[in-house]
Amino acid sequence: MVSLEFFTEKDFSAVNYTLDEIQLQYTSTAEFALKRMTERNTGQEFPVTIFYNKNPAGFFTLDFGEDKLDLTDNHNSTLLRSLSINPQWQGKGIGKAAMLQIDDFVRKSFKDCDEIVLAVNQNNISAYELYLKVGYRYHGKTRIGRSGPQYLMYKKL
Ligand SMILES: CC(C)(COP(=O)(O)OP(=O)(O)OC[C@H]1O[C@@H](n2cnc3c(N)ncnc32)[C@H](O)[C@@H]1OP(=O)(O)O)[C@@H](O)C(=O)NCCC(=O)NCCS
Repeated sequence: MVSLEFFTEKDFSAVNYTLDEIQLQYTSTAEFALKRMTERNTGQEFPVTIFYNKNPAGFFTLDFGEDKLDLTDNHNSTLLRSLSINPQWQGKGIGKAAMLQIDDFVRKSFKDCDEIVLAVNQNNISAYELYLKVGYRYHGKTRIGRSGPQYLMYKKL
């Protein structure tokens, strides 16, 4: 069973798994994401732990700061960042279940938020397909990210 909870320090060692070089092009480790979040210090970014049968198995952040405005004009949206599942458990449906649960998680915790936006590397076909399957839409907008072109994707809540 997959569930989502706001990240707490006790999750850190479990979610700070290693990712290989290819996956690191597409996402950040939890350690790096948390460090960047501390540096940005907006107070508007919230790390979330993905649990699989009560074990921390994945990580992402929800960023309500200004960076999302590179993707959208919607001030009531949130930017999903740094999503990953522990490589040991990838390909078992955890990412898909988590992405489906994010909608209710956001609705419940951030009542004014009406859209989730994200950027996915064009070479990251499996993640792009996953996002399509869980209702994200690509309207033809791209941008250049740190590892090349990215599709910008949107899901209205
Ligand atoms: C992308 C990621 C979060 C997906 O999580 P996951 O738990 O491995 O994915 P799931 O098992 O839920 O699979 C969901 C869908 O993704 C696709 N998928 C997952 N792994 C795949 C693979 N190895 N090859 C092709 N498609 C794949 C499938 O379409 C699958 O849909 P299906 O179950 O209907 O067949 C995870 O693989 C990951 O952490 N990757 C590295 C970091 C990354 O790329 N993050 C995204 C940044 S935008």
